[in-house]
Amino acid sequence: MAFSTLLKAGVVALATAHAEAKPTVNDQIVFLESSNSSLLTYPTQFTQNIVPKSIHSHNDYWRDVPLLTALSYGVGSVEADVWLENGTLFVGHELAALTPARTFASLYVQPLLTVLAGENPKNAFTLNQTTPNGVWDTSSGTPLQLLVDIKTDGVATLPYVLQALEPLRSEGYLTTYANGTLTTSAVTVVGTGNSPLDPIKALEPRDYFYDAPLTQLTDPSLNTTFDVSLSPLASTDYEVAVGWSGIGAISDAQRANITKFVNDAHALGIKARFWDTPGWPIHARDTVWTELMNDGADWLNADDLEAASEF
Ligand SMILES: *[C@@H]1O[C@H](CO)[C@@H](O)[C@H](O)[C@H]1NC(C)=O
Ligand SMILES: *[C@@H]1O[C@H](CO)[C@@H](O)[C@H](O)[C@H]1NC(C)=O
Ligand SMILES: *[C@@H]1O[C@H](CO)[C@@H](O)[C@H](O)[C@H]1NC(C)=O
Ligand SMILES: *[C@@H]1O[C@H](CO)[C@@H](O)[C@H](O)[C@H]1NC(C)=O
Ligand SMILES: *[C@@H]1O[C@H](CO)[C@@H](O)[C@H](O)[C@H]1NC(C)=O
Ligand SMILES: *[C@@H]1O[C@H](CO)[C@@H](O)[C@H](O)[C@H]1NC(C)=O
Repeated sequence: MAFSTLLKAGVVALATAHAEAKPTVNDQIVFLESSNSSLLTYPTQFTQNIVPKSIHSHNDYWRDVPLLTALSYGVGSVEADVWLENGTLFVGHELAALTPARTFASLYVQPLLTVLAGENPKNAFTLNQTTPNGVWDTSSGTPLQLLVDIKTDGVATLPYVLQALEPLRSEGYLTTYANGTLTTSAVTVVGTGNSPLDPIKALEPRDYFYDAPLTQLTDPSLNTTFDVSLSPLASTDYEVAVGWSGIGAISDAQRANITKFVNDAHALGIKARFWDTPGWPIHARDTVWTELMNDGADWLNADDLEAASEF
């Protein structure tokens, strides 16, 4: 039924039901909602109304529902710790936390494929679309950042991670650097932890990037030109690089460190993240977040996603 016909039917039905009172717009909405019309189903509504935020979900796999809880808060970056055991990638903070069911494929790759399939309906309207939509219905061009923290040997584990990403790769969902061009897609995968620098540098095309050391972006001993084609992200341990507890005043030297590291990253087009920021007291956590944001840090590293999303 055409929407106008449905609308007319509703107005007539409601007007008949309340002989004296004319239906209001709210009556009409109630009628249409109860009509179960396919007209009212917004096709890509999975993340409808959720605004993506520059929050990194630290140890995301600890949450009751990994990935989706983060998406529900609009968190733009998630992290999975992966362990290679017997040829399979398991997800967990330490060996004692691993179970056969909790794998990189089951907790991250497959759910992402499902979400992205919902955001990318294949039909006559989308026939000519060349760039896939990301996970955010409100901002389809914003990629989700997926940090893969390799816990086992980096060189041995990397090929398995690259293989596990194949279902996302074959759908064109991975941000890729190829032939000198960086093409942003729905998911930007960034290796951290033991992710090995040299094999990642050697990837061609590259759809697995490297979390650069934020305090060493220009360190010649690393023999590396860090830029956005290798490292969309650079991170450092806040405790070591800055150290301010968030209580009392920050020193000039501590603030100068934040701004130096942020500016080094931005000069290369790289986004800056400080992890290991204070979690408690809450006011100290919030004061540190405010300082970092004011000084240009790009990602808020958070354990409490609800607090960070309301920050
Ligand atoms: C709504 O419509 C769909 C398909 O037209 C049908 O499968 C479903 O059972 C309907 N739901 C209700 C509550 O009538
Ligand atoms: C790995 O495989 C060996 C040999 O089949 C088996 O004994 C061991 O329990 C497996 N380890 C895990 C973590 O599944
Ligand atoms: C897709 O491209 C074809 C060929 O250029 C064009 O005829 C058609 O109208 C386009 N469809 C949509 C939905 O944009
Ligand atoms: C890169 O260039 C090579 C050779 O010209 C071509 O075969 C390949 O498809 C290109 N890759 C991408 C991702 O554009
Ligand atoms: C530095 O990097 C270049 C290019 O990647 C490589 O050819 C060279 O061997 C490296 N040097 C050292 C000391 O690692
Ligand atoms: C600034 O950063 C350097 C390098 O990481 C570190 O050695 C130094 O202690 C930091 N300064 C402060 C005040 O934290």
